[in-house]
Amino acid sequence: MARLGAAVNIVTTDGPAGRHGFTASAVCSVTDTPPTLLVCLNKGSSASAVFHANGVLCVNTLAAGHEALSNLFGGRTPPAERFAAAQWKVAATGAPMLVDAVAAFDCRIVRTVEVGTHDVLFCEVVGLAEGGVPHGLIYFSRRYHAIRGGHGGGEE
Ligand SMILES: Cc1cc2nc3c(=O)[nH]c(=O)nc-3n(C[C@H](O)[C@H](O)[C@H](O)COP(=O)(O)O)c2cc1C
Repeated sequence: MARLGAAVNIVTTDGPAGRHGFTASAVCSVTDTPPTLLVCLNKGSSASAVFHANGVLCVNTLAAGHEALSNLFGGRTPPAERFAAAQWKVAATGAPMLVDAVAAFDCRIVRTVEVGTHDVLFCEVVGLAEGGVPHGLIYFSRRYHAIRGGHGGGEE
């Protein structure tokens, strides 16, 4: 799996069960009709029960420079400490939206499929924000890699 490079995201939620968030590279677009993403969530994580109870989430796609934030949301830190390290808006669903994300997808969880240690959450996108941030972030071979984008940065 370490050789399967992917974008890095912080997936957040808020609602009756409280606020939580975790770093996820197992995020993928499923279809644009209706706009749907999937997120793979470890059933053993402290975030799992909170996401199921709230039923909403925001996928915040990280930019180059977010490596420390990604590690902070990557486990073993209390939720309040994770969120204190960045600036957030409240999305329409109530989930925290990272202000300087490459993109943020506000979603409702519409279906869950259990596969081994993980739940695959199918998430319908109900809102979208674009940060105008030029450079993305990929996790490959257990390391972060900045990738250059031609959008918004004025350079190619
Ligand atoms: C780069 C990176 C990618 C990760 N991708 C996922 C993922 O796709 N799904 C997942 O459940 N956990 C993933 N994790 C681990 C979770 O972020 C971590 O288990 C989560 O913060 C919960 O930890 P806790 O139980 O200590 O709160 C990833 C961690 C890192 C650093």
